[in-house]
Amino acid sequence: MAIGRSKVVIVGTGSVGAAVAFDMVMNYICDDLTLIDINKEKSWAEATDLQHSLGYSGSRMRVKAGEYEECKDADIVIIAAALPYITGQTRLDMLEKAAGIMNNIVPNIMKSGFFGMIVVITNPVDVMSYYVHKLSGLPSNKVIGTGTALDSARLKYHLADVMSVDPQSVHALCMGEHGDSQIIPWSQITVGGKKFLDIINDNKIRLKCFDLNSVTEDIKKIAYRIVNAKGATTFGIAATTVQIVKAILRDENKVIPVSAMLNGEYGESGTYAGVPAVLDNQGVKELVEYHLSESEKVELKKSIGIIKDYKKRLKL
Ligand SMILES: NC(=O)c1ccc[n+]([C@@H]2O[C@H](COP(=O)([O-])OP(=O)(O)OC[C@H]3O[C@@H](n4cnc5c(N)ncnc54)[C@H](O)[C@@H]3O)[C@@H](O)[C@H]2O)c1
Repeated sequence: MAIGRSKVVIVGTGSVGAAVAFDMVMNYICDDLTLIDINKEKSWAEATDLQHSLGYSGSRMRVKAGEYEECKDADIVIIAAALPYITGQTRLDMLEKAAGIMNNIVPNIMKSGFFGMIVVITNPVDVMSYYVHKLSGLPSNKVIGTGTALDSARLKYHLADVMSVDPQSVHALCMGEHGDSQIIPWSQITVGGKKFLDIINDNKIRLKCFDLNSVTEDIKKIAYRIVNAKGATTFGIAATTVQIVKAILRDENKVIPVSAMLNGEYGESGTYAGVPAVLDNQGVKELVEYHLSESEKVELKKSIGIIKDYKKRLKL
């Protein structure tokens, strides 16, 4: 008898879905992993290739390609399905096509009797997370977008590199839209417990080339450069998603900036946006509300306003 086996399903096994699957297998995140794609040959190929890694990875996971009925007893379904990327598209240009894909996928997941959690990766991720919440009928704590978690990892790495410290010693995050309007709340960022703005003030010579605005721009734009060069971003989003999945499956109560439903936090309601959230085995346990500076509050409102505009375009 299988007692308490944890199960994850990935829908969409393109560049991102396959990278997430590989990271899950290498880190033995769950017991059962099922891959679904509209292109069945692709999900079969990814699953079979992953099975061939099991002999050396030491992971005892069961990996297979499957159908939507298999979502029935899944703890988490990850959605990474999309239409092929067209050069120059912003994440928000992908809106209507992505919504069409969700219209196809989400009813199939729910028809299986699924009652777990959904982690949305598909862009534009904030609007898609909201849409999946509405389409699925699942409570908002159970539908989570990867939001600005990946941007935050990029920022952490960048600051760690500048300061020559371990990224784990950097507490940094991006907030708002996972896209061009996201903000970096510099007032909240610390390295080794010291406010980063104080570090800049105290190290004017060493950090003379450090410019807050250009770092914000670089973090926003780096994904476009990676996608133009290698066709997709994969490893960063894979590690990001696996951290979110692990926080849920292992009831870690870990704080990760994800796309979550706002219920009055940051003065906003009824929309998903990237904010720090405590993740446990129920999904989003609570949101962390920072004391942002006045200008950060204005910028965040602007970014959330963009997500709301796009929600309106979908008549949500
Ligand atoms: N949230 C983030 O931080 C983040 C980071 C990277 C990528 N992304 C997004 O992830 C998505 C996937 O990117 P990718 O590079 O893997 O794309 P891709 O084109 O390589 O893969 C998409 C996969 O989805 C499948 N698919 C399409 N329609 C489907 C349907 N109706 N049902 C099931 N499967 C379907 C395709 O067959 C394909 O295998 C994109 O929306 C991308 O923008 C998000």
